[in-house]
Amino acid sequence: MTQKPRRAVLVLDGDSPNALNVARALGLAGAWRVHVLRPGAVWRARIDWSRHVASHRIARSGVATPGYIEEVVRAAERVGAEVIFPLSEGTALRCLEARERLEHVARLIPLAAPDRFRCAIDKGSFSEFLSAHGLPQPRTVVHRSGAALPPIPPDFAFPAIMKPARGEYGRGITRSETRAELDRALRGLGADASFVVQEFVEGTDFDCSIVARDGRLLAWTMQEETMPDGRAFAPAAVTRFVEDGPTLAMIERLVAALEWSGLAHIDMRRSRRTGEVLLLEVNARPWGSLLGSVEAGVNFPDLACRAALGLALPEVRRRAVDFHKHGWSVQGLRAWLRRNPGDGPPRASQFAHCLGDPVPEVLTWAFDRLRGKRRPA
Ligand SMILES: Nc1ncnc2c1ncn2[C@@H]1O[C@H](COP(=O)(O)OP(=O)(O)O)[C@@H](O)[C@H]1O
Ligand SMILES: [Mg+2]
Repeated sequence: MTQKPRRAVLVLDGDSPNALNVARALGLAGAWRVHVLRPGAVWRARIDWSRHVASHRIARSGVATPGYIEEVVRAAERVGAEVIFPLSEGTALRCLEARERLEHVARLIPLAAPDRFRCAIDKGSFSEFLSAHGLPQPRTVVHRSGAALPPIPPDFAFPAIMKPARGEYGRGITRSETRAELDRALRGLGADASFVVQEFVEGTDFDCSIVARDGRLLAWTMQEETMPDGRAFAPAAVTRFVEDGPTLAMIERLVAALEWSGLAHIDMRRSRRTGEVLLLEVNARPWGSLLGSVEAGVNFPDLACRAALGLALPEVRRRAVDFHKHGWSVQGLRAWLRRNPGDGPPRASQFAHCLGDPVPEVLTWAFDRLRGKRRPA
């Protein structure tokens, strides 16, 4: 059997938290040769050792500096890249500014227009956008840096949650049980902080991953938390990939209103009291449960690269699956050992993907031991 030649993709931000997931997903698709460009702040990144990575190099210029785009162009030319795939939101915005220059050598994965992109990734402007379009969200008060502290309405329900406008991975989020506690937390913030205060929604996390083009969904997966993580505001330990018609209709409205193009992972919350699904935020980048989406039948990085080149997209066959997020760790091993349930949907785990491409985690673990650092890979 003759194998189709693989097309080269240049992945930027090889040091970002979900870079290895992207390399693994592209490797599993079997159609791509993955080359990586990453900042040189660390002497090694896990992705460098992935069996799915054909080459990696270090960018000398910071993403915000004038030299960065020329480095990307040179790297893309050197490896014959047909697609350029920025992973972090900051790099995606930088690539959008320089789209014309980059697209002389290779196609960018689909990305939303810069104003839409900025609106979606800032929790304050996103909340205002949702209000303007009548889309559901928890009750929210938006504060912008430099402005006076926002008045919290007398009927605002507690507990309340305060989130930095441009935070990620639950960083900087605080929960206040009472108005007095919230007032104290607000006074503790610097004048240049931008944040949102939201009513806390008792319930479960419910997320939707998408790839879209010009405001139309090309593919999606949806997942509901079935086992929370022990740490506050962290992604669920186990999620079940599901289908939910009304939520999908709401996501279609959001994607159309944003005129979205590209990948996104949309965080939502299902209220235990009302059953309603409320929008929390848009992550305009690959996400932690990306390989769970692959297990559920949608290989988003593959679709993004295909869409960039105008290639036909494979038909999506979604399946229900329980995905366990722990990789190279005791919890991951435990989940993997229990991978054949007697009941319920099939189980899949991040750990299984580590076993299929073991060197990144094993070497990271070994180096961290040598340096006396204790950190799960
Ligand atoms: N209004 C809220 N009610 C209940 N839980 C929330 C609320 N906002 C955020 N959370 C919890 O905190 C997590 C992180 O919040 P999110 O808005 O996604 O910010 P981040 O950018 O830090 O991921 C969510 O996945 C959810 O579990
Ligand atoms: Mg989130």
